[in-house]
Amino acid sequence: MKMRKIRAPSKTRGWDDYARRHKVSPASRWILEGLKRITPALGAPRVAVDLGCGTGGGALALQAGGFEVHGVDISRLALSFARNRLREQEKRANRAGFSLPTVKLHRCGLAKFEIPHCGLLVAIRSLGFLRRPELMRLLQLPRKVAPGGVTVLHFFEPQDDWALAGLVRALSRSEIPKALRRFRVLKLEERRYRGCTAAGVLKSWHEFFVIAQRTQRS
Ligand SMILES: C[S@@+](CC[C@H](N)C(=O)[O-])C[C@H]1O[C@@H](n2cnc3c(N)ncnc32)[C@H](O)[C@@H]1O
Repeated sequence: MKMRKIRAPSKTRGWDDYARRHKVSPASRWILEGLKRITPALGAPRVAVDLGCGTGGGALALQAGGFEVHGVDISRLALSFARNRLREQEKRANRAGFSLPTVKLHRCGLAKFEIPHCGLLVAIRSLGFLRRPELMRLLQLPRKVAPGGVTVLHFFEPQDDWALAGLVRALSRSEIPKALRRFRVLKLEERRYRGCTAAGVLKSWHEFFVIAQRTQRS
């Protein structure tokens, strides 16, 4: 049997293909859980940032959860699908007689994006595609996430097939709390399974989902 080579989606064209396959993806359950972990009394701004927002499933949930949202992605196509979905949600809200907070979609590389001060920052299956120095720079989050704010992040583990092939950047379990200085890890789930990529290739996935809260100390 001929083996198909494991490839991570890369550059804009690969991500456009990914967007076509995930045109109506729902929000990750991790984003929904992150929303539940917000404590309004702590006063973090109702501003959310979704890094690598794709076709907008997360942005829709964050907007519906009462957050002004900044969605960032490199794929023009993903952002146009996201824009259409958001427009539909806003129309439905208007028809029901209420308005939703604004969503700004930014077409930008994550390494270049100036993250605004926020109360919720999410990045699901996007950080691993940065280069290592870019990833470590981006993880200087205390300057961006307000005290009391929450972050929901995904990392590849070094034994993930893509990480072993050098296609994504990974963090080990012990590196995660160190990378998230001035955050308290509320939940860290490790997942290992065999499953298909968006392109239909079977691989071993090994990943972490993390929910962490910015501590009150400055
Ligand atoms: C695997 S998808 C995940 C999408 C979404 N977060 C989700 O969970 O459904 C990764 C997303 O990150 C975007 N992306 C990848 N590398 C990027 C980069 N360097 N800058 C901005 N966006 C990037 C891709 O276009 C894609 O939409």
